[in-house]
Order: sequence, then C-alpha cells, then structure tokens
Amino acid sequence: MSQHSASAQAHPNIALIKYWGNRDDALRLPVNGSISMNLAGLHARTEVSFQPSLPFDELIINGREVTGKGLQRVSAILDIVRGMAGVTAKAEVISDVNFPTGAGIASSAAAFAALALAASRAAGLTLSEAQLSRLARLGSGSASRSIPAGFVEWKVGASDEDSVAESIAPPEHWDLVDCIAIVSATHKKTGSTEGHALAATSPLQAARIADTPRRLDICRRAVLVRDFNALAEIIELDSDMMHAVMMTSRPALHYWEPASVTVMQAVRNWRAQGLPVAYTVDAGPNVHVLCPLGAREEAESKLRTLPGVGNVLGAGVGGAAH
Ligand code: PMV
Repeated sequence: MSQHSASAQAHPNIALIKYWGNRDDALRLPVNGSISMNLAGLHARTEVSFQPSLPFDELIINGREVTGKGLQRVSAILDIVRGMAGVTAKAEVISDVNFPTGAGIASSAAAFAALALAASRAAGLTLSEAQLSRLARLGSGSASRSIPAGFVEWKVGASDEDSVAESIAPPEHWDLVDCIAIVSATHKKTGSTEGHALAATSPLQAARIADTPRRLDICRRAVLVRDFNALAEIIELDSDMMHAVMMTSRPALHYWEPASVTVMQAVRNWRAQGLPVAYTVDAGPNVHVLCPLGAREEAESKLRTLPGVGNVLGAGVGGAAH
C-alpha cells in the first residue's frame, strides 16, 4: 500500500441498552446513552486510498460499486477527514463485509468504524480513540461503539466532541456469546437514520429516555460483576421498550416478524427452565440471543429447531477496531 492508503477492520456491535433517537440528527447526538458488546468473527474490512487522479470518491462494497445515498454518507466522512488533514484528493474505498447486511446486524456500525480508522490513517492522521469514536459516530451513531474493545458505553455527552464511546470491560472479561437467529436476510424496510427521526413522535419516547440512566446503571453493573440474570432482565426490558417506541411512532415501525416473536417467547421459556439465555432485537427482525459460552451449544441447537429460524450465527466478544 502507498503512503496515501490504509486499511482497517472493525466488528459490528449489539446494543444491550439501545440508542434510539437523536437530539441533533445531523451530528447524530443521541437522546440517551447506550451500552454494547462487539461481535467477534464478524467484521467489515475497509481500504481507503486517496488518489489525486480520481474525479470523485468511489465506493465498492463486497465487489459492487455503490452510488447515491450510500456513497454520499461515506463522502461526508471523507470530507471531514480531508478537512482535518488538509488533503484534497478523492478516495477509493473498498470494503468487504463478512455477514448479511441490512438485517439488524448493524453493518453500518462496523463499516463506519473501519472507515473512520482507515480514512484518517490514509490521510496521515493519528487520532485518539475518542476522536475516532466521534468521527465514526458522524457516519452512524452505533459506529461510535465499534471503535473501543469489548463491552462499550457511549455517553450522551454535552457536545459533538464528547459524545463518544469507551470500553467498560475488555473482551476477555466475560465469555458471552451472541447467537443470532436469522429469521430474514432481506433488507429492512426503514433504515435507522429515518427511524431515529421518527422516535420523538411516539408518546412513549419521553418515558423511555427518562428511565435510561437507571437501565444503564443496572446493565453496566451486570456486565462488571458478570450477573447474567440481571443482564437478561434489563436487556429484554430495554429492547421491548425501544420496539414499543418504534411501534407507536407515526408512521409506525414494525420490525418484528412472527418468527421473531416465536424466538423471544422460546427464550423466555428456556430461561424460566434454567437455561441462561436472553434476547435483544435491533431495527430488524433477527433476534440476538445472548448466553454464557457454556450454554452456547444448547442454545444454538434449540434455536435451530424453531419454525422460521433459517440460520444461527454465533459471535463471541470482539476487540477494538484495528
Ligand atoms: O447507528 P444506527 O443509526 O444504525 O442506529 C442503531 C440503532 C439500533 O441498532 C436499533 C440500536 C443501537 O443502539 O444499536
């Protein structure tokens, strides 16, 4: 690679306490803090190369050229990096994502975290973790959480500069596994950027926001002391609260499919019978089922027997973008 190119890799993350709604849509400043875990084994790998001969930025994802809105979102991040580094050249961005995109497995988080790191390095900048987290956030809010390692908290912050994510525990702190029950691999109807803009139209959003510091405290503590039952209860409550807001916004957003509900119900029953499992669902129909490593085999094989579950992807706790 030449002096003006660099590549980086980042994991997607699954939110344990969800981010839903912005207080500033352009800057992607969230209305509430969130906590997540990076997903090992799944990643976006992105190479950025600034080339003076290019007439405009080019984006290739998994071998296919992307134009329109997708390219504009990437160019906006490249523009910020060019401004910081005093670079004028356009860039070629080549990204490979090794998991299904657009189905609630936060491909944008991994993609913008990898882009922030690769683009800043290619432009000759060495940014701090907080600066990288901020830059990634401007592309996709949840991408701020794919910069640091392991279990991560994104603070609401007071400004653009300090609304950034940091690690609360390293990957090896707790052997959790996310067993992702794929009930649909098709592209979601309403992307999260449009979804965030609708959150405030739900009469339930204000109550969800007001209660978030309490849920964050319970979740952070459950992670720090490795209390699976406490984690299970708070992440299911938090996921259900976010979906209640989605379903009651105008227009309403319904991401669950019948099979999503089947999985959630089964997970609650299995836990009542003693199997340590808990669910959380992002802006898509697939259900993320968390469990300690020791319960992984049983959880995965049980999930595969449920009607409507196509595949189950397993992911441990992932490291930082690098
Ligand atoms: O970063 P975005 O704009 O894709 O929003 C992510 C929203 C959720 O995945 C539903 C929740 C979260 O905190 O990741």
